[in-house]
Amino acid sequence: CGIVGYIGHRPAGPLLIKGLQKLEYRGYDSAGVAVHTGSDIEVRKKKGRVMEMAALYKSSPIKGSVGIGHTRWATHGETNDQNSHPHVGGNGEVIIVHNGVIENYASLRSKLQALGYVFRTTTDSETIAHLLSHHLEEQIKLGESLDDTNTYLKAVENTLSKLKGTYGLVILFRELPDVMIAARLGSPLVIGVGKGEHFIASDASPLIGYTEEVIYLSDHEVAVLTRDEVEVFHRDEGQQTPSIQTLDQVSEDADLGDFEHYMLKEIFEQPQTLENAMRGRIDEDEATAKFGGLNLDPQQLRKIDRVVLTACGTSWHSGLVGEYLLEEFARIPTEVEYASELRYRNPPMSENTMIFAITQSGETADTLAAMRECKRKGHPTLAICNVVGSTIAREADGGIYLHAGPEVGVASTKAFTSQVMVLIQLALFLGRMRHLSYPAGRRIIDAIHQVPDQVRKCLECNDLVKEISQKYCNFNNFLYLGRLYNFPGALEGALKLKEISYIHAEGYPAAEMKHGPIALVDEETPSVFVVPRGQIYPKVMSNLEEVKARKGPVIAIACEGDRKIADIADDVIYVPDVDDFLQPLVTAIPLQLLSYHIAVQRGCNVDRPRNLAKSVTVE
Ligand code: G6P
Repeated sequence: CGIVGYIGHRPAGPLLIKGLQKLEYRGYDSAGVAVHTGSDIEVRKKKGRVMEMAALYKSSPIKGSVGIGHTRWATHGETNDQNSHPHVGGNGEVIIVHNGVIENYASLRSKLQALGYVFRTTTDSETIAHLLSHHLEEQIKLGESLDDTNTYLKAVENTLSKLKGTYGLVILFRELPDVMIAARLGSPLVIGVGKGEHFIASDASPLIGYTEEVIYLSDHEVAVLTRDEVEVFHRDEGQQTPSIQTLDQVSEDADLGDFEHYMLKEIFEQPQTLENAMRGRIDEDEATAKFGGLNLDPQQLRKIDRVVLTACGTSWHSGLVGEYLLEEFARIPTEVEYASELRYRNPPMSENTMIFAITQSGETADTLAAMRECKRKGHPTLAICNVVGSTIAREADGGIYLHAGPEVGVASTKAFTSQVMVLIQLALFLGRMRHLSYPAGRRIIDAIHQVPDQVRKCLECNDLVKEISQKYCNFNNFLYLGRLYNFPGALEGALKLKEISYIHAEGYPAAEMKHGPIALVDEETPSVFVVPRGQIYPKVMSNLEEVKARKGPVIAIACEGDRKIADIADDVIYVPDVDDFLQPLVTAIPLQLLSYHIAVQRGCNVDRPRNLAKSVTVE
């Protein structure tokens, strides 16, 4: 979910809506704003995209220069108008927006209901609003003054002490028109410092263009914002001196241009984004790669005896390619862990285990938690990340940026190929510190220099893939099969199709298919074989024959010049002939395009698929 807040001299409503549009990648189930009019707080909220709520707001705007807004990715409670944020506490004396999950909401809810609080929604977040209202009432009973900000602060602190779970929380009180209170535990909040105005948001994107000075709230901190002041209090350590940092200005270059969807635009950007992922990182003389931000000296790096890559979704798939690369080139035992599992597991890790969190957004809650868990145990914990200044980028001990530019489409495309390109260079770099010879390093460098052009060539298949997609768009089940470097590629191809076209698709190692998924093969279940020439090409071809023998339609992604495959497969998409370790990069293009065109044919919302969010900030 996305949060934005403003206290200053400008009309709050339009500013909040603009901010929510920037945050929509975090969720778009519903959106809402609340603005303080001076005497009351009015709310406009609606199911659906920010645009729809903005239309509602336009028809009945609210006058005021203090307000909060929210764009939701539903966790507890269905997506409807009532369940949208902001939520009202008591009889309207408190209004909140909340990111995160309140785990003990059910017991809090029954206690509050017993006290007479009437719940209007089925969300966990509404519990916080009523609890605040309850604790405010308690303060008043104790004789505290409604004119004193401390009365409200105390109510907030008492409320927070009852919550189990995570929150990024921004609160308005009806009787406190010139103050906004925020609290954070596990869900990021950043304050923008302006002249006679302050901003708050769940990440810095809505602040760009307004201010470059920011304060990142830490866990267990509460901030009290007025137009001219920010005070920060830590639960255990009392009042803090906030550290004001300068925002790394990120380019806002996210226009659609001539493309119909962001996803297509981002697929077509890959020759350029791959160049960006390599720029300044190749050391031609030493036949290795170099990275400025790892913050580890060569001695420390040489001692690394194990690498753990942790991530979610598409980034987890690039991690799988990374495992093959690091083991092949650097001979370092590597594991890839789902971040959501690693955060609660306790695998034995040697002192010299290095952790890499791989993440496009740098905000994924599970990846952040897994990274923190590894950091706590003293391992060097680095990030491979796209978004500059994101939470993971800031908390990691060091890392590598993708420089892929903003990725807007919810289904990740260019970030995947950039992650793989960074991992190739990382494997080369760590390999050259160990066993990899100079000529072997040179060969890798010569090969990767050609990748942007090879990917450009792959993009020429767009029309053909569109044609093929017309033939297959009405099937309801797909298998994606590949071996070695193309197994993660197959997983990623299947994920892309699932995400944007809502077709069930399963990725599998091509040979493992005979131990189960082959039972699914029939005329109605197409298999996408990722089968470029390489080390075990004939073996994958046997797997392909096994599918054909059972009348399964086959789309093959094969190497240019492979004429034989055209006789066996129903449809073939050719990619340039590259080394095995580069195959996930060239085959990614037709796989992305296939899912894109199938989704378009099915009339799906490609850039904003149902139920998904670009950045999942809850666990
Ligand atoms: C969400 C997105 C995926 C993405 C995953 C991990 O599920 O929809 O496209 O791969 O999160 O995101 P990250 O930003 O950590 O790479």
